Amino acid sequence: MTTNGTSTERFAGRADPAALNFSNLGFSYVKTNGHVKYTWKDGKWDAGVFQPTFDLNLDIAATVLHYGQSCFEGLKAFRMNDGKIRVFRPEVNARRMQRSCRGLCMADPPVDMFLEGVRRAVEANAEYVPPYGSNGSLYIRPFVFGSGAQVGLSPATEYLFMVLVSPVGEYYTGGMGSPTKAVIKHKFDRAAAHGMGKVKAGGNYAPTLLPTLEAKKKGFSVMLFLDAKENKYVDEFATSNFAALTKPDASGKRTYVTPKSSSALASVTNRSLCELAHRRFGWNVERRRVAFDEVRGGAFAEVAACGTAVIITPVSEIHREVASSSSAAIKSVTSRPPLDASTQSPPQDTADPFGFEEEEPA
Ligand code: COI
Repeated sequence: MTTNGTSTERFAGRADPAALNFSNLGFSYVKTNGHVKYTWKDGKWDAGVFQPTFDLNLDIAATVLHYGQSCFEGLKAFRMNDGKIRVFRPEVNARRMQRSCRGLCMADPPVDMFLEGVRRAVEANAEYVPPYGSNGSLYIRPFVFGSGAQVGLSPATEYLFMVLVSPVGEYYTGGMGSPTKAVIKHKFDRAAAHGMGKVKAGGNYAPTLLPTLEAKKKGFSVMLFLDAKENKYVDEFATSNFAALTKPDASGKRTYVTPKSSSALASVTNRSLCELAHRRFGWNVERRRVAFDEVRGGAFAEVAACGTAVIITPVSEIHREVASSSSAAIKSVTSRPPLDASTQSPPQDTADPFGFEEEEPA
């Protein structure tokens, strides 16, 4: 998706884009010119509005507040060296949001409406898209939630689809170049085998907050989750997917290995890395169950957390808290410069060679 962007309305309390240091943004929330809002009522979506505000009037019985009817997406817009703004694979996020909405029994935005909402939000906030070469991007956060009031447990009769944007830099301090440490907490599961782990429900994230705070106090930036049923196979990190590389073989080929699990999110970044590894580098790609014992046993030369927000963050160590605790140190952690986006092949947004849009086996 390409957009040039013009904006007329502006939020009075917005951050001044001229005063932002786009090369050192971190991942904090920056208020921009405004957001986009669509309402679903009487069985249909309205035409949507751009609003130069960041607050909301909501009935106190809205189902999002009580029953967690809420999901979100994360994608990014980049300023390219030709001055244009490009959004990375928004159609894939649009379809994933539909799956999340269906899983939570919510009205789902049609793909075209999702794309229009993203375009409107980016165009109205084009001055917040970090310059080419700054390492920053405009993070786009579309979200849907039950705004209809209900006290009994049943789906809302009204929904909002909104898109906010915020300029961002690195998620983990040190970013792509500096490895992070992960921990597997004892007696804490992220998502049940037949639960909502594979969609982007807000409720998958809130339970990770407390253990992540505890983990951070011990020097780990992120939690890694194993499958909840057997506690044996890698699912994903709290913020992102798990990806690993084997050492190059005699011919220089490596294998990109990533978990296939009914309780891990179908990451757009991970899917893109699978496609690049296969098409660009000619590597083997294995999307399969990954036993933590393989990681501990040194099967992989490199491990990374990958996702829209965290990009590709190398992981140097995974500590497992169990009755007798043990650690898996990743022997070699390499950081690479990002691929020059201008030379990347265009994404194949309907092809899904690694099955990220398929129903996962339990
Ligand atoms: C993203 O990568 O876009 C996410 O939504 C992850 C979130 C923890 C920031």
